[in-house]
Amino acid sequence: MDKTSSEDRTPSAENAFENDKKKLPWGRAVLVLLVILFLALQLYPVDHSNPEVVADIIAPDNIKAILRRACYDCHSNETKWLWYSYVAPASILVARDVQQGRERLNFSEWGEDYDEEDTPEMFLDECWESIESGEMPLWFYLPLHPEAVLTDEDLDALRTWCGADQLEEDDAADGDDGAAEHDHNQDDQAAQKENGSEKNSSEDKK
Ligand code: HEC
Repeated sequence: MDKTSSEDRTPSAENAFENDKKKLPWGRAVLVLLVILFLALQLYPVDHSNPEVVADIIAPDNIKAILRRACYDCHSNETKWLWYSYVAPASILVARDVQQGRERLNFSEWGEDYDEEDTPEMFLDECWESIESGEMPLWFYLPLHPEAVLTDEDLDALRTWCGADQLEEDDAADGDDGAAEHDHNQDDQAAQKENGSEKNSSEDKK
């Protein structure tokens, strides 16, 4: 019984193969080529290293926790390299983001010169704009890292800690503090300019 059914199957399978070959002479070749290409791509060398933490940013625990889950994979030397970061082509893209992210901003190399008092102001100057505008964390990172989505509470905590809420109040207030207000406006403009040019450079990624 087994024997006959297998005898039945073999010729019809062969026929199907012949039919396929006639219908899709290139289909198989393209598929094989894609598989070879995919395998070859895995040979592309990708750097998964985490350099030493030199001067981790000094911040209160709650702030640090937010930065750790939303930013540290790309902006620190403590990147968690997940499984897909070992499979090309994702590996190549992830490694590039980490490399560029670290170059631009590295919470593990924040600098010895910044203590707990200076840090919020530096964070305000360097980081707040990109968070508030929603540019950071990068959108395509979020579906795979839902824990990195910044909630309203996270944003409030960051805003208060770095003094951005103070800035907004100052800007809203009239008169008395004219000089300080002027300074803030200049800061804002500089940040916006920087942001604009950054957007352009990140355009080619999409
Ligand atoms: C998936 C990786 C990734 C995550 C997560 C991420 N960044 Fe970035 N970030 C980048 C890359 C890549 C660049 C450099 C290229 C660019 O500007 O698009 C960058 C640039 C920046 C810059 C400088 C450029 C600018 O727009 O002014 C700041 C500031 C920044 N990130 C802050 C943050 C903060 C704060 C977080 C967490 C809330 C965060 N990033 C999360 C990848 C990431």
